[in-house]
Amino acid sequence: MTKANVLIVGSGIAALQLAVTLRTDLNVMVLTKSSLIKSNSHMAQGGVAASLGTDDSPTLHYQDTVEAGRYFNDPAAVQDLTREGPEIIEELIKGGCPFDRCETGEIKLGMEGAHSAKRIVHSGGDATGRILIEHLVSQLGRNISVQENMFVYELLKSKAGRCIGVKAKRTDGKSEVFYADHVVLATGGCGQLYTYTSNAESVTGDGVALAYLAGAELVDMEFIQFHPTLLYVDGKTRGLISEAVRGEGAKLVTAEGKRIMEGVHPLKDLAPRHVVSQKIYEYLKMGKQVYLDITCITNFTEQFPTVSALCRQAGVDLEIGKLPVAPGSHFLMGGVKTNSIGQTNIPGLYAIGEVACTGVHGANRLASNSLLEGMVYGKRLGAWLNEQPVESQIPSPVGRDYDQSKLFLLPDKTVLQQTMMDRAGIVRHHASLMMQKSWLESFQVEAWLDRSLDDCSPEELTKVFMLITAWLVTNAALSRTESRGGHFRSDYPVEDENWQNKRIAHKRKTIKDGRREQIKTALTT
Ligand code: SIN
Repeated sequence: MTKANVLIVGSGIAALQLAVTLRTDLNVMVLTKSSLIKSNSHMAQGGVAASLGTDDSPTLHYQDTVEAGRYFNDPAAVQDLTREGPEIIEELIKGGCPFDRCETGEIKLGMEGAHSAKRIVHSGGDATGRILIEHLVSQLGRNISVQENMFVYELLKSKAGRCIGVKAKRTDGKSEVFYADHVVLATGGCGQLYTYTSNAESVTGDGVALAYLAGAELVDMEFIQFHPTLLYVDGKTRGLISEAVRGEGAKLVTAEGKRIMEGVHPLKDLAPRHVVSQKIYEYLKMGKQVYLDITCITNFTEQFPTVSALCRQAGVDLEIGKLPVAPGSHFLMGGVKTNSIGQTNIPGLYAIGEVACTGVHGANRLASNSLLEGMVYGKRLGAWLNEQPVESQIPSPVGRDYDQSKLFLLPDKTVLQQTMMDRAGIVRHHASLMMQKSWLESFQVEAWLDRSLDDCSPEELTKVFMLITAWLVTNAALSRTESRGGHFRSDYPVEDENWQNKRIAHKRKTIKDGRREQIKTALTT
C-alpha cells in the first residue's frame, strides 16, 4: 500500500511550487498523467506579472486585474495575488532563476494587453514557462517522488467525508490506489474541450470532473478565456503567438492591411482578450482571414524564439511578416471553489492553479497572471500544510454503490471539441447551448456520474471527464443570461448589473451511505 503525506495530482507550476515549498521531512508524491514536463505551464510563452517597475504598484496591478475580470473578482484574493507577486519574483531571482535583463542589468519588464504598466517578467524571451518549470524541477528534493503516466480517475473518501487518497490507472490499464493525508488537485483547466486551443494535449478537464464526482463545489464554469492569437494554418491551430508580440507593436490586420481593432476599443490591439477574440472570430465567420503584422518588430526571431520555431514548423515565412491567426480556448477562470489557501469544501482535498477558482481572475484573466497565481497559491498552500500534524493512520474508504446496469456510450473526442467550439465557444446563445446540452445528455452524462470507472481505459477516462466538464460549462453558460468577460451571449450581449454578484455553482450532494443525491446547480450571490 502506498501512502504519502501530501499527494499532488498534476505537474505544472502550481504543483511544483507546492512541492518545493513543503517541508523536506514530508513524504510528497506527484502523480502526472503524462510526463513531468508536459504541461500548460511548460508551454507558457507569456511571463509572470509583478509590479516591479518604479511607475508601478500592487494597487495598479490590482486595478488592471479587476478591470479585465469585469469586477467579478474576489477583492481579497486579488489583493493577495498582486501584493505577493514582487516577493515571488525576488525569491526566484535569489534561487538563481534566469530572468531576462536589460542592458543596464535590471530585470526587463514587458507590456501585455490590458496592463497599464510594464510589469511582465520573462525568461528566455517567450520560453518563460519552460525555464520556470526547469528551475523548479531542479529544486525537487529527495522527499518528493514523481510517478509519470498515472491517470487519476477517482478521489477516495472516508466515512467521515474526508478525501484520503486516489485511484489511478497506468497506461497498461492496471489500477493503483494511493493514500494521503492531503490530496491536492493541480491538474490545469479544460482547454482541450475545444478544437482550437493553446493548451497541452493532456488538459482535458480531469481535475474539474474528479472534484465534481467527489462532491466538491465548482463555480464560474461559464468563464472560459479564448486567446486571440493562435497560429492558424490549413484550418488548424498550431500553437500560441504570445500577446507579448502585440505588446511589442504587432497589429491585427486583414489581407488588405486594414487594422481590425481600430475604433473597437481604446486599447486597440491590446484590448482585453475577449474583445479581441470576438472581433477576430467575427472576421473568420465572414470568411476573412486575420493576420498579425509583425513587420515593425526588428529582432523578432531573437525576441520570440518559441513563436518563430512554431512558424517554421507550420511553414509560415517570417520574412513576409504576416502571421495568420485564429482565437482558441486558453484558460478556465472558474473551477473548483477554494479559499485563500486552496482548501475546497471537502476536508483533505485542495486545489491550486488553473483547476482552482480562488476568484482572482473574475470573469476574465489578465495576461500573465496565471503563472503568478500558480506560484502564489502553491506557496500559500505549502506554508499551511507545513504547519499541519502528520497523520499516521489511513481511514478506510467508503465503498460506493454503483449502478452498472445501463449501457454506456461516449462521444467521439473530435466531435465533442467541434460542437463545443461551435455551440458553447467564443459566441454562445440559448439555442446553440440547448442543442449542445441535449447532445451531451444523449451520452447519459448523469448516469456516468454514478458508474464505476474502474474498467475504463485511459482513453475512455479522458472522454468521460471531457463529457462531464463540457456539460458543466454548457449548463453554466446557459444559466448566465448576460455577457461578461470570457462568457459572451449574442442573445444577451451586454453586462447586466443584476448578474454582478451572482455566481453559478455546481455541486453534488453525498448522502449517508455514499450514494449521491441529484446534481444541484445553484446560483450563489
Ligand atoms: C501570452 O503570452 O499571450 C499568454 C500569456 C498568458 O495567457 O498569460
